[in-house]
Amino acid sequence: MASVESFAFLKPRNRRSPGASGAGMADNVSPAAESPAMTQTPLPSILQLTPLNPSYRADPHVALDDLRARCPVYRDETAGSFILTRYEDVRAMVSDRTLWRDPIHAEPAARISRGLDAIPEGVPRSEAASILTLDDPDHARIRQPLTQAFYARVARFRPEVERIVDEALDRIDSAKPFDLMDTFCVPVPIDAIASILGVDHARLAEFRDWSEGLIQGLNPFRTPEQTTHMERSSEALIDYFVRTIAERRAEPRDDLISDMTRLQGEGVPINDVELRINLTALLVGGNLTTTDLIGNGVRLLLLNPDELAKLKADPGLIAQVVEETLRYEPPVDATGRIASRDMEVGGCPVKTSQAFTFFLRAANRDPERFENPHDFDVTRARIPHVAFGGGAHICIGAPLARLEAQVAIPKLFDRFPQLRLADPAAEPIWRTLPFFRGLERLDLAA
Ligand code: HEM
Repeated sequence: MASVESFAFLKPRNRRSPGASGAGMADNVSPAAESPAMTQTPLPSILQLTPLNPSYRADPHVALDDLRARCPVYRDETAGSFILTRYEDVRAMVSDRTLWRDPIHAEPAARISRGLDAIPEGVPRSEAASILTLDDPDHARIRQPLTQAFYARVARFRPEVERIVDEALDRIDSAKPFDLMDTFCVPVPIDAIASILGVDHARLAEFRDWSEGLIQGLNPFRTPEQTTHMERSSEALIDYFVRTIAERRAEPRDDLISDMTRLQGEGVPINDVELRINLTALLVGGNLTTTDLIGNGVRLLLLNPDELAKLKADPGLIAQVVEETLRYEPPVDATGRIASRDMEVGGCPVKTSQAFTFFLRAANRDPERFENPHDFDVTRARIPHVAFGGGAHICIGAPLARLEAQVAIPKLFDRFPQLRLADPAAEPIWRTLPFFRGLERLDLAA
């Protein structure tokens, strides 16, 4: 398994003491940090705040609670980023539409924002990146029509999600223990997005394979075989989208690609390369995350039988179950932005082009915002979590993820009323993918 040390692209070039970037510690950590405790325990680097660190993987909240309490804003030189953990700060910053998202604006030291891949030169940004990392005007130009078409489809998608979930349940062999991730949580979101995109049934197996191949793009420690799978999948998907966009333009069908080519025909300014990149983003952004939402939700209900009993007694609670799962065990740990001006955050001066990493997971368990934040309580009065980020970049797939989880979880417990962990004493096996939290396996018995 990959170790923290192999996270090479994040290795600090000139590691100095926390907060030391030339101006002195007080310039780079929030005032809460200047407690005696801080001098005893060094602040964690970003690497320690990923599941590559076994103690973070076992329980991320030990480190995040400590950080939020003693240093809610600080600059980690390894990441080249200010790390924020307090709800109030995270909520305000993700909602701030004046901040940048495109890594092209980030200082070279901002390793976590600039990521694994070189920023291509001589290519328009909108033909090199999806809305995830574009700024306005490109971001709004592409996101607005895509949202319009996508949300209209999601609004009438429930019967199709029910069909997809039922089919996945039919395929489970419950005569012996089974891995819910493999049999249910992985295929449901892939089949759902395939249906929205109008993938022919005959090509579904191929599409599932490409989708899983693309996920390797998020894995900095992929094996050579996984890299080959990723590259092959990426090429196949480009070819598939290029052909399908042309086919749907000539002969529209009832799917999102036809919606988008129709909008293009009506004068919406999105070219085919931009369309293809953003359709791919829906695929990559939506699969693993929704897989983990369903897996994490089922596990939490099995670990908290009183909460499961409440859901069984009142099926109308499902929306709250899903929101509480998103708060308590969010599939995505963090997101980021880039300072578009000199500013001050939590008492720390921040310069234009310096990067931020917001720990959504930490914000979701902030005791200043949520009473008893470490209780999984499906009857909370309000659950204003930040699991989907916020502002201009708030997750475009949130309505689909919610719908899938709200259909999948009750149907699973209806189909298998005796559902339980196959080995209640076994430790959960979490994946090691940085900034995502989901189970490798979830072995259940029915
Ligand atoms: C539980 C499931 C999901 C979670 C937890 C999740 C989480 C997130 C987060 C944290 C962001 C960044 C928001 C920000 O920076 O403010 C994001 C953006 C995005 N997500 Fe999701 N996501 C989920 C499901 C989906 C689905 C189902 C899709 C597509 C079908 C999707 C597609 C995207 C895209 C395209 C963006 C970029 C939006 C933009 O920057 O304008 N996500 N998601």
